[in-house]
Amino acid sequence: MDRIRITGGRKLNGSIPISGAKNATLPLMIASLLTDQVLVLENVPRLADVNLLQRILGNHGVDITVNGKRVGETQYDGQTLHINAGNIIDTTAPYELVSRMRASFWVIAPLVARMGQARVSMPGGCAIGTRPVDLLLMALSSLGAEIEIDRGYVIARAPDGLKGGTIAFPKVTVSGTHVAVMAASLARGSTVIENAAREPEIGDVADCLNKMGAKISGAGTSRIVIEGVPKLTGARHRVVPDRIETGTYAMAVAMTGGDVVLENARPELLQAAFDVLAHVGVEVTPTNAGVRVARNGSGIAPVEVTTSPFPGFPTDLQAQLMALMTRAKGTSRITETIFENRFMHVQELVRLGAHIALDGECATIEGVETLTGAPVMATDLRASVSLVIAALAAEGETMVHRVYHLDRGFERLEDKLSACGAAIERVSG
Ligand code: EPZ
Repeated sequence: MDRIRITGGRKLNGSIPISGAKNATLPLMIASLLTDQVLVLENVPRLADVNLLQRILGNHGVDITVNGKRVGETQYDGQTLHINAGNIIDTTAPYELVSRMRASFWVIAPLVARMGQARVSMPGGCAIGTRPVDLLLMALSSLGAEIEIDRGYVIARAPDGLKGGTIAFPKVTVSGTHVAVMAASLARGSTVIENAAREPEIGDVADCLNKMGAKISGAGTSRIVIEGVPKLTGARHRVVPDRIETGTYAMAVAMTGGDVVLENARPELLQAAFDVLAHVGVEVTPTNAGVRVARNGSGIAPVEVTTSPFPGFPTDLQAQLMALMTRAKGTSRITETIFENRFMHVQELVRLGAHIALDGECATIEGVETLTGAPVMATDLRASVSLVIAALAAEGETMVHRVYHLDRGFERLEDKLSACGAAIERVSG
């Protein structure tokens, strides 16, 4: 199993190209099931999750071709996928595939909306929380789908098609909103989604669906209105930049010191995180190329942060911020409100010499002068990159194990960091 070896203590200087967003790419690829015409997605990141989703869609009969390299393209340019769901031969998503990536459960929405039926394995447990799908099923039944649970599979039926309705989410859910928007796009009549998620990835999917002929308004706000249409067409769409990758590299520069331009980054997609970094003592400057992040000389100030749905501080940057706070000058408190078990990185950071106390959903971090390299274990995608950030500033060598977690969501992480001066390399086997 691959590991990553890091020798800490070097500042980061240079530029890092930000890839397309994993959490927009996955629902966009799934949305291709809504039409029998070709959907072309540009700026698609090369990630394990994207490759796995290609297999899952292929299992339904979807053809996907990837453009070869074009003149002037670098290895950092995203890939272009041509997705043709013209011939869906199977509306079952098997346990073997769904259990490997939760988001694949979302295929239930376009399949029942377009094909009138879907049989999808329940996603099962997850390292960061129980993550039920009750609100996704509530959304589909609000649009008239009959829902049955049978031996670990959800069977959704709508033989006469879905009907518009009102979906009022009791709590903000990104997956619930994606499922509701996709399904309602082909439902007869209009649908209103109340308390919808406002994450930028929701807006990106709605933009793409509107290019495919959907009638969606209000995406990005908590009230979305959809006028269903009988059929959707093909389209060409460029995936939005990855705000979590952007925030991760910004935290890394804050941790080590240095000066880096995050190319393609869009500050408005993660203002809450940039506000926290400015408070910490980091210079964050929008530029034509993206966002410049610099910390030279000034110390790291402690913060009090609570994760919340967009536009609040993203839970997907919580672990990275905690790594940064291990070296703050004082006491920080981070409260995690989205997932009930998202502190798996704490004991690994403590192995590097951090002082962190947990009390329910709240972590108290006493900043230390130095961290010291040690072998550590990745447990989930964002926890694993927080260990990389801590190791970049730790004295000596750190070996991060189980880096397959990283490959799910970070494209060319070692290349991007070593291009800015980090001593980081992948050790295979
Ligand atoms: C999406 O997960 C992201 N995943 C997550 O990123 C992200 O952490 C999360 O949104 C919050 O921003 C993708 O986009 C692929 P939710 P999702 O539905 O949609 C509860 C990463 O690291 N809930 O907004 O699954 C749920 O348990 C990943 O890239 C129900 O109770 O998150 C959680 O506590 C990790 N019932 C809360 O709502 C439901 O039916 C928010 O979940 C659905 C959700």
